[in-house]
Amino acid sequence: MPNLVDELKTAGVAANTISRLKSASYTTCETIVLVSPKQLAEDCNLSLEVAEKVRLQARKLAEKTGFVNKEGITALDLLKRKVTRFTIGCEGIDRLLGGGVRTGVITEFAGEFRTGKTNLSSQASVTAQLPIEKGGLGAGAVYIDTEGSFRAERVKGIAERFGLNPTEALKNILYFEVFNTRDQIDTVKRLFRIVPDQNVRLVVLDSMIQHFRAEYPGRENLATRQQRLNLHLQDVKRLMRGFDCAFIMTNQVQAQPDGLPFKEPTKPTGGNILFHASDYRVMLKKGKGDARIARILDAPDLDSNIEVAFRITEQGVEDVSAEDEKPSAEQVESAQAV
Ligand SMILES: Nc1ncnc2c1ncn2[C@@H]1O[C@H](COP(=O)(O)OP(=O)(O)OP(=O)(O)O)[C@@H](O)[C@H]1O
Ligand SMILES: [Mg+2]
Repeated sequence: MPNLVDELKTAGVAANTISRLKSASYTTCETIVLVSPKQLAEDCNLSLEVAEKVRLQARKLAEKTGFVNKEGITALDLLKRKVTRFTIGCEGIDRLLGGGVRTGVITEFAGEFRTGKTNLSSQASVTAQLPIEKGGLGAGAVYIDTEGSFRAERVKGIAERFGLNPTEALKNILYFEVFNTRDQIDTVKRLFRIVPDQNVRLVVLDSMIQHFRAEYPGRENLATRQQRLNLHLQDVKRLMRGFDCAFIMTNQVQAQPDGLPFKEPTKPTGGNILFHASDYRVMLKKGKGDARIARILDAPDLDSNIEVAFRITEQGVEDVSAEDEKPSAEQVESAQAV
């Protein structure tokens, strides 16, 4: 359970300071611990001295719940720490991700248009709601849409497939359409209040970079764009770490400039900043027929040699079984006839 900032009152932090913390999206002691005193002072308009004191008190409270460990922990304890994952409702993608979408980290789905990024994100916002015993997180989701491509009617069908009440599933997804980077940044800041209040454990951002690319075009704006994107990603990381929430973002791809033969023809956009922020980077491609292929492009602890196939249907994202890949009786017959 997170320690709410109001608890800092008992540690002698002034009410005025607490309200400044809250309005700058520092709603819990855990989210304070994750930034430097300097950052805290800047964000909340506090003196460095006050920020240092606040952070120290926040840390003491966060130590009580084991969020931070002053004395360190053994590697064995670290190993025993429970990693939470939830199913995306497609066995192949779950396997690729080492058993499902992890909380506390960023999972990125990158790919060309129509490779299934929005479908996978929409399905995740339903499967996250499944009870824990069915592989879900038993919690709500937030969907931040930069492209207006989220379809509520699609959620209905997906919910039915997973045995959830469609109306309840729709109610448990809080949807934000954002029109520019300002909206996007402010929405993530607002989530520091919404996530704990509404029991949200998954945040989707579809797509992360689109508005940044549109608002900061060309080489001349690249440095400013990346700086702004970096600050935004720091907020995202703090949100996930602070609330142990899963975060799925989608990303477009761009051509690889040097075109070396062993290189992929495309790579995810966003440069080094996004590359470093993304913990699990999944590349999606179009496969044979209506199949789509997913592969790990970058992950600290996952096998990048596996590729899995999936398909987008009326019911959402489904596995392509070996049975599906076999030619049909008619196909065999016509091949034999040739
Ligand atoms: N009800 C449905 N039944 C079958 N296929 C569907 C259905 N709805 C959407 N699709 C397929 O999903 C694909 C689009 O997938 P999706 O929107 O997830 O792609 P995307 O990677 O998000 O693309 P973009 O880059 O344009 O945002 C299309 O090829 C479409 O045919
Ligand atoms: Mg999309």
